[in-house]
Amino acid sequence: MPVKTIEWADDAVRIIDQTLLPTEVRYLDITDVETMWEAIKSLRVRGAPAIGIAAAFGLYLAVRNSGATDYPAFMAEVDRAAGYLATSRPTAVNLFWALKRVQRLVQENASLPIPRLKQRMLDEACTMIDEDNAVCRAIGEHGAGLLAGRAESILTHCNAGGLATAQWGTALAPVYVMAERGQAVRVYADETRPLLQGARLTAWELQQAGVPVTLITDNMAATVLSHGKVQAVIVGTDRVAANGDVANKIGTFGVAVLAHEFGIPFYVAAPTSSIDMSLATGELIPIEERKPEEVTEGFGRRTAPRGVSVFNPAFDVTPNRYVTALITEKGVVRPPYVESLKTLFHLT
Ligand code: MRU
Repeated sequence: MPVKTIEWADDAVRIIDQTLLPTEVRYLDITDVETMWEAIKSLRVRGAPAIGIAAAFGLYLAVRNSGATDYPAFMAEVDRAAGYLATSRPTAVNLFWALKRVQRLVQENASLPIPRLKQRMLDEACTMIDEDNAVCRAIGEHGAGLLAGRAESILTHCNAGGLATAQWGTALAPVYVMAERGQAVRVYADETRPLLQGARLTAWELQQAGVPVTLITDNMAATVLSHGKVQAVIVGTDRVAANGDVANKIGTFGVAVLAHEFGIPFYVAAPTSSIDMSLATGELIPIEERKPEEVTEGFGRRTAPRGVSVFNPAFDVTPNRYVTALITEKGVVRPPYVESLKTLFHLT
């Protein structure tokens, strides 16, 4: 991936503003928590792992100028800011995972002076970038192992590429690894209504990386799958429940059902930070609903009559029976997920 989605640079959090892609590549330097909240809410930074990292930096920005002189006052500020950032988007568990991780770090270092605590928070957010790069690379290698010799052409939905993580992506990581190894690989990218992450982001980043990509509208997936144009589907996820049900961008469920119908494996690239063992099933995953205008006048042009009623869930939940395997950084996980996920997390 030629761009970094998020990094710490010049005393600010530098993100690529994904709402402007693919026509404009503009970076934003974020220095306060309110701007970070807005950037997450409005999808300037998006994709589950990337918003987790963004939230961790946001928490640091919230308290970096804090005048608190004792630990309880400082921790109260951290908790307040975490509560605020948690209201930005509900579905991707990475956001809550990252906030809790930084809060725990502060609690565990309560004896440190406040300036050192602040530095530790910043260091932790930077560490998350390094870890994300390693996790994505491992997912890429496990995924490439699954696909090599079996699938040259894959279909993906939404963007679970470099733009959704710090740099390398989850669902697209196996594609990048295969391309790097000189193995033939090409991607069909669903456009992904209503916000077009597939068209604006996946097609853009694959083109930048020199990977062959064919863009289709969402309603063409059945034709592509039934005509044998792809040998595997790989998507990312915002949250996997303990039974292997998978929340991901709206439309994923339909693609999974199609893949099942046509006997094509349906893989979900899932860093362990996206797996929520506290939720027994996908029915418990909170699904974000976004404003009607994204459907009726997306990108500035009205395409539906004024006053029409709109339903705009941003994610859906694919039942575990459609998921051939989860590709995690620790390896490939197969059904029955209730058992295999417990084993993955060493739970008894
Ligand atoms: O609304 P978005 O663009 O944040 O939705 C993103 C997705 O659904 C991704 O597939 C998911 O977050 C996985 S990203 C590795």
